Formats: sequence, C-alpha cells, structure tokens
Amino acid sequence: ETVNWDPEQAGKGEYDHFMLKEIYEQGTSLSQAIEGRIDHEAGDVALESFPPGTFEGIERVQFVACGTSYHAALYGSIAMNCAGVQTSAHLANEYGVSAPPVDEDTLVIAVTQSGETADTLSAMRQAAADGARLLTVTNVVGSTAARLADDTLLIRAGPEIGVAATKTFSSQAVMLLLLAQRVTGDVVGEQRANLEALLEDVSALPETIESVLEDDDSRDLAETYLDSQSFFFIGRGLGFPVALEGALKFKEITYEHAEGFASGELKHGPLALVTPETPVFAIFTGEEDEKVLNNAEEAQTRGAPVIAVCPEGHRALNVADAHLEIPDVDPDLAGLLANVQLQLVSYHAANALGRPIDKPRNLAKSVTVE
Ligand code: G6P
Repeated sequence: ETVNWDPEQAGKGEYDHFMLKEIYEQGTSLSQAIEGRIDHEAGDVALESFPPGTFEGIERVQFVACGTSYHAALYGSIAMNCAGVQTSAHLANEYGVSAPPVDEDTLVIAVTQSGETADTLSAMRQAAADGARLLTVTNVVGSTAARLADDTLLIRAGPEIGVAATKTFSSQAVMLLLLAQRVTGDVVGEQRANLEALLEDVSALPETIESVLEDDDSRDLAETYLDSQSFFFIGRGLGFPVALEGALKFKEITYEHAEGFASGELKHGPLALVTPETPVFAIFTGEEDEKVLNNAEEAQTRGAPVIAVCPEGHRALNVADAHLEIPDVDPDLAGLLANVQLQLVSYHAANALGRPIDKPRNLAKSVTVE
C-alpha cells in the first residue's frame, strides 16, 4: 500500500497556494529579519557585522539586482540618496554593458534572494575585479553571492517557494532601510533627524502588516477590474519602486498586462494608453502626495478608474474610485504596506483567473543562466 503524500501540498497548511501563505507570513518573516538589529536605548541600528565606522571612506554606493530584488534595491537606493549618500541602482544584466566606474571607495550592494542569480553574480564579479567593496543582502547562507561578497546581510525570511517573490521583498527593503542608517551615519557623518521614530515604526511593522492582512478586502476590488485591458501602477519617490513591484507581481501571476510608472512620467507617454479599460493603482506614501494625486487625476480625466492606496481620511479619497487602505506610518515604510495590499490584489486577480499562481509559465524561482 502506498500513501498519497505530497510534501509540497502539506507545506501549504491552510492556504491554497504558497504565495498566499508567504504573503501572510510577512509579519513573522519581518520579526525574524529585525530581531536584535535595533537598539532602542541607543536609538540606533544594531547590525551585527556592521558596527559604526564600517563604511567610513565609502564615497558612493551602487546597487545591483534583478526582478523583485531590483525593486528592493531601488527602494534602498532612494532611501540612502535622500539621506545624502551618492547612490545608484542598476539592473544586474545591464551592469556588464554599461557599468559605471568603481574604485575601492565604492560599495556595491548586490541584492539577491537566492544568492544564485547569474546576472547578479556576474555584476558582482566585475565590480570586485574593478576593486569595489562588495556587500550582499541575501536570504541564503553560504550562497554563491555570500561567498563572493566581502560582507553579507541576511534577511532571514525563511524558504520562499512561490516563484513570485513576496515576503523576501519586504524583508530586503527593511534590511536595506536599516543598513541605510549605518551607511548614512558613516558616510554623511550624521543620522537622519527622526531616526528613533523610524526605528519605532520598523519595530511595529510586523504587527502593522498583520493588521493589513487581517483586513484583506481586496478580493472584490480585484474581481471588479478583472476585465480591464491593462493595469497601471504609479508612485513617486519610495512609491516608485513599489509601483514597479506591484506591476511585476501582477503580470507574473495573472498574465495580464501591467506596467509601473513614476507618476510624473504618465504625461510623457503612457497617458496615450489610458482609457476606462486601464485602472490606475496610485500609491501614496505621505510624501509629495499632492503630485501623485494630480497625476492620478490626469488619468481619471481620460476615464481611468483610480484606486488609491493610502490611509483612511486621505484627501485622495475625495477623488478615487476605490480604496486600498494602509495604516498611517513613517513615509519610509508606507510603500511596504501598500505593497502588501498590491500583493493581495494580484493574488486574488490571478486566483479568479485560475492561474497556476505558485509556478507561472516560463518563469523560474532562480535564474542561473545569463
Ligand atoms: C527570478 C525570479 C524573480 C526574482 C529574480 C531575482 O527572475 O522569478 O522572482 O526576483 O529571479 O532573484 P534573486 O534570487 O536574485 O533575488
């Protein structure tokens, strides 16, 4: 007699898909990521291998990554940039053909969940050969990226089975925000003004995310717009990488056309595509929201339904056709909560369409060829 025991099936527990399980794990995975890494008494980050002074002498930071990890990298890059560090984010597969100059004063941060993405490893090798200092933010101990890098920052998200990355994105982004505080302190010589408040909000983030997940009411919304032609995601500043990630998730698992734009860029081309058949998800982080709202209204004037991802009581709700609610938090973190809402929308849309959510066609969890 044989027992029909599918270990993959068992691993999903109460969830229909690994992706949904992993979306719901984000409270836990973030707790693991930040555990012991914030010193509230000192009002500072406490990254084990990166004591104050670690990054003295660094003059510029370059990020390299692919896919979802690139969006986390862009998030980290924008956060460091705003704090006064000279940074740039690069798609790893473009690095080899358009690599900016590096030297020993350059810190190259490779962001890679698996630590095995060939494009990212190749960019790392090139940067190392040119003398840069290499750091990797990864989920896998002993991965090739971890072995290549001078330093490793583990995101401790646990295994992620769904091909579409979810919990690893939020952990990457939060670890990059913490790392940004250390790099800024060392490179600029001073910490951001309200660092303690940010660290409080980071500590509370696992619970804040749980509250978003508990109130998931995005299923109806996902189904309402399912017959649309194309799905647009717009954001500004830290909302921009979230717009890119929202669109990537949506296209990966629904097979519907989706694009993410810097909200201000809509008027420079994408508006030509806007019709009542192109819902626009607008991400409000609490910074420069007025501009994002103007851009969303430009689309709405052309007939597009606008879905505002913002806190309750936000002025965008006077205009928006639909609302995805996020708690009111530090603008550095708001985008991560918006991202959770967008993960849920993508999931519900893909589920309603009957897509093979955990293993989308033509995609692999880790791409080990260039
Ligand atoms: C593949 C996966 C994506 C992932 C990307 C980078 O394309 O399908 O989900 O974001 O690789 O993977 P990495 O392991 O380097 O983060």
